[in-house]
Amino acid sequence: MASGGITEARFRQVLGSFATGVALICTTDGAGQPRGVAVNSFFSVSLQPPLVGFCMARGSTTLPAIRESGRFAVSVLAGDQAELCRRFARPGVDRFADVDWWPSPDTASPVVDGALAWIDCRTTAVHSAGDHLILIGLAAAIGGTSIGDALVFARGQLLSTSELRDPARRREDDAHVARTH
Ligand SMILES: Cc1cc2nc3c(=O)[nH]c(=O)nc-3n(C[C@H](O)[C@H](O)[C@H](O)COP(=O)(O)O)c2cc1C
Repeated sequence: MASGGITEARFRQVLGSFATGVALICTTDGAGQPRGVAVNSFFSVSLQPPLVGFCMARGSTTLPAIRESGRFAVSVLAGDQAELCRRFARPGVDRFADVDWWPSPDTASPVVDGALAWIDCRTTAVHSAGDHLILIGLAAAIGGTSIGDALVFARGQLLSTSELRDPARRREDDAHVARTH
């Protein structure tokens, strides 16, 4: 669909230039089952009070559980968790099968093992924004490690920050930039 002359495909392509991290947003549903979804729209909002947010498609099947529970945990994915990210972006699969996780200390929301960092939140606001909703959460507990590589999403690709440091890869990238500029 085009809006103001901007097609969805072109919008996605242009916004794909903005590299982000990747996180899992997880909660438990009314039956106590873990539910979660991969997002790259996670963002920090405020220091006082400590607020974070993310954007969810209105059609999300995980969104009702997040809204009903009023709580969620953010697992910031590490560089070696690309496959986990893909699984949490796949519809119709048991995303938690064989995934090790633990309940966050304040809201008992799932945090996946191996995450670089985690933020345990209570939902404080839900804003409408086009075909998405913006959810804001107050951090009740946080944790993480100061070492380890992060997972990055850019130009439709998942990569580890370790690859950014890889000299062979950098030479390839430099050659590509030289060819295209
Ligand atoms: C790297 C990556 C980032 C994503 N970020 C978002 C996001 O920020 N918001 C969103 O609604 N969907 C996002 N998605 C798509 C959802 O993960 C995907 O549509 C998923 O199947 C939705 O599942 P659900 O129906 O359980 O919400 C992303 C997918 C990937 C691979």
